[in-house]
Amino acid sequence: MKKAPITICPSILSADFARLGEAARKVEEAGADWLHVDVMDGHFVSNLTIGPPVVAAINRSTNLFLDVHLMMYNPYDYVERFVEAGADMITFHFEATEDVEDTIDYIHRCNVKAGLAFNPETPMSFIPKYLPLCDMVLLMTVHPGFAGQAFREEVLDKVRFTRSMCNKLGVGKETPFLIEVDGGITLETAKKCAEAGANVFVAGTYFFGHPNMKTAIHEMREACSHDFVEKPKPPEEVD
Ligand code: DX5
Ligand code: ZN
Repeated sequence: MKKAPITICPSILSADFARLGEAARKVEEAGADWLHVDVMDGHFVSNLTIGPPVVAAINRSTNLFLDVHLMMYNPYDYVERFVEAGADMITFHFEATEDVEDTIDYIHRCNVKAGLAFNPETPMSFIPKYLPLCDMVLLMTVHPGFAGQAFREEVLDKVRFTRSMCNKLGVGKETPFLIEVDGGITLETAKKCAEAGANVFVAGTYFFGHPNMKTAIHEMREACSHDFVEKPKPPEEVD
């Protein structure tokens, strides 16, 4: 069985906000694939972070793919501004808008990737409908809003369910569908998520708190690439 590639995505939320450019370059030099940028509005979550001008400044400091995680109400209204700021992927919350399909469609019309995020307590039955529509599902492994929280083990079931639905629905045929986990990710919890079927790993506290970010990224890539194996299709679905 072939090993599927994984994506390592440090979160800038745990950087020194007075030195974001330096932090972005450090992440790039350490061998990360993407940079995760957390946008919080003080309403959808009880924390405030950054907006489009700061995303634009980060974008000027790095060539990394910018994975922008919007923890805000009315994401539709801000899509264009984050695209102009340099977002390569915009992920918004299922719980934050009535217009999930329109927002995915609008993000695509702006020529960037669209991700859909689900809070830990949101039932997994809402997920399958959106798998054929978006480029990535983000399964929150903490309640969104703050870095440094403990990983929620119960979300592993949701990761397993989402991967099995991807296989069943045949999404991500050429390259595996992206299932991102975010919150409380360390080497140990990343391995558990990889075994369950995740292939995009966001970590703030772990990478920025590690004495050697390059080593931390390398170890996670090694450990999780081994664990995440594409399941063959069941015989009746082979064409
Ligand atoms: C939390 C954010 C995360 C945060 C994760 O709401 O969405 O991206 O940076 O931080 P850690 O890895 O410390 O849990
Ligand atoms: Zn995030």
